[in-house]
Amino acid sequence: MPAPDELVTLYSDKVAKAGDLAALDAVRVEALGKQGEITQLLKTLGKMDPDTRKAEGPKIQGARMAVADAIEARKAALENEALEARLASEKLDLSLPVDETPLGSVHPVSQVMDELSEIFADMGFAVAEGPEIEDDWHNFEALNIPEAHPARAMQDTFYLATGEEGAPPVLRTHTSPVQIRTMMREQPPIRIIAPGRVYRSDSDATHTPMFHQVEGLVIDRNIHMGHLKWTLETFLKAFFERDDIVLRLRPSYFPFTEPSAEVDVGWSQVKGRRVVGGSEGWMEVLGSGMVHPKVIANCGLDPDVWQGFAFGCGIDRLAMLKYGMDDLRAFFDGDLRWLKHYGFGMLDTPTLSAGVGA
Ligand code: PHE
Repeated sequence: MPAPDELVTLYSDKVAKAGDLAALDAVRVEALGKQGEITQLLKTLGKMDPDTRKAEGPKIQGARMAVADAIEARKAALENEALEARLASEKLDLSLPVDETPLGSVHPVSQVMDELSEIFADMGFAVAEGPEIEDDWHNFEALNIPEAHPARAMQDTFYLATGEEGAPPVLRTHTSPVQIRTMMREQPPIRIIAPGRVYRSDSDATHTPMFHQVEGLVIDRNIHMGHLKWTLETFLKAFFERDDIVLRLRPSYFPFTEPSAEVDVGWSQVKGRRVVGGSEGWMEVLGSGMVHPKVIANCGLDPDVWQGFAFGCGIDRLAMLKYGMDDLRAFFDGDLRWLKHYGFGMLDTPTLSAGVGA
């Protein structure tokens, strides 16, 4: 039989070499199990005479406890190692760079539409809509543009082939048919703007076959051109965020307004660019006038009771003037570089948080 301290040396070595919990348990069985070497040694105590037992007992017990302690300590160390390994393998590295998801941007036309809606909402205008494929009556006839009227040729209309008799449907050439639809649907007082797409067969640096307009319509009692001028001036000041906006109303002609006025806005030169504001020169920004009594009557309203004004304005042009783009065609090319440069952040609210009259 080996001596107790030899066994302690032997098993301490085996315990230290046990690489995992299963190997350690095998060492425990070998030393301290029922048939284990130290257990066998303990059993020899019974057969010893009392004096030998007194001398050997503490040595053997001491060896058993030393080996048991060594096993416990090693077990704790192995368990700790296993936990550390698991923590390491399951760790998420939050500092790793993530794949950048490309973010889109808000198109300047959408941004300007939001700005328009916000400004006119402050003045009590609702947003109205109408179809882009219009019938002849809403796009022309009801607006006092009879067949063979030269104004039809002026607007370079896209007609849709139907193979049927009668006037073909058109891609609306302006947002004015929304005036008609609104007056036929609602009772005055009416205050609406109608932003949307319109179509004309035209294409160069400042014209595209599809572009955007915003229509404005006010119908009430005792409305006059002073209301029109105030509304446009208030709108343009809020939109361009400048107080030095000067307007000039020039007599003009539209079949659906009488009198009609083309509205020019004063510009000034800043770093070689024309910007809206000041009065170094004039540029035309919109068409307007008092709604023609015939148009009011066409919608089933009494023109002796109800009057109003209307205006129509190019949204793309407003965007070009405010945000400094030169070529209208680039608006609709879908070039991501252009969109990134001129687009707006998704969470940018319209820039006009001050609102009208603030
Ligand atoms: N519909 C006209 C155009 O497209 C603009 C306009 C609207 C003029 C309302 C007067 C009143 O040219």
